[in-house]
Amino acid sequence: MQDYKLYKYEYAKDILETEINIILKEFERNNGYLPVEHVKSRLKTETSINNKLLKKGLNQKDEQSLKNISDIVGIRIVVSFISDVYDLVSEIYKSKNIKIKEKKDYILNPKDTGYTSYHLKVEVPLHLNGKKEYIPAEIQIRTVAMDFWASLDHKIRYKFPEHVPKEVEKEIKNYAEDIRKLDRRMYELNKMINKYNKKL
Ligand code: GTP
Ligand code: MG
Repeated sequence: MQDYKLYKYEYAKDILETEINIILKEFERNNGYLPVEHVKSRLKTETSINNKLLKKGLNQKDEQSLKNISDIVGIRIVVSFISDVYDLVSEIYKSKNIKIKEKKDYILNPKDTGYTSYHLKVEVPLHLNGKKEYIPAEIQIRTVAMDFWASLDHKIRYKFPEHVPKEVEKEIKNYAEDIRKLDRRMYELNKMINKYNKKL
C-alpha cells in the first residue's frame, strides 16, 4: 500500500479547492450574497482506497488502478437553498479548470435509501514536469437539510454494518421525505423574503 503515489491527488485537491473558492467569491460578487454554509474537502484514506480496489478486483500495487476510483479527491459544498445547488452547478459548468465527466442529480432522482444530493464527477488538469495530466475528483453539492440527513443516515448505517433492519430503513426514508418538504418550504420562504427585500 505504501507504493501509492497520492501526492498528485493532494495537488489536485488544492487546485479544486482554489477553483471552487474563486467560483464562490465570484458568485458573491455578482449576486450580493454567499449561498454557502460550508465547504469540506478530503482525500480518501489509503485503507478506504484499498478496500475499494479489492471490491473492484483491481491490483492494489498498480498506480494505474487508482484511475478507476473517481472519488479519491472529494469536495462537498453545503448551501442554504435548493436553488443555490443549481445556481452553483451552472457556475461550475462554466469553469475552464474543471472538466465535467458525469453529473448525477440525486435531488431529482433520489437513491433508494432516500439520499439526495447533486454529484459531479470531474477531472482536474494538473501540470507537472511539463506534462499535463487529468486527475479525477468528485464534487457533492447539497443543502444543509440534505447534509443533516446524509450524516444521520451514515451514522445509522455504521451501527448496522451487516444489514439495516427494514423498519429502520423505512424510517430513514420517511425522514428523507420530511427533509425534501422542508427544503421546498424554505425555498418558498426565501422567495417571500426576497420579495419584501425588493420593496424596501
Ligand atoms: P461509489 O462511491 O463507488 O459508490 O460511486 P458511485 O458512482 O456509485 O457514486 P454514488 O453517487 O452512488 O455515491 C457516491 C457518494 O455519495 C458516497 O461516497 C457517499 O458520500 C454518497 N452517498 C451515496 N449514497 C448514499 C446514501 O444512501 N447515504 C449517504 N449517507 N451517502 C450516500
Ligand atoms: Mg455508490
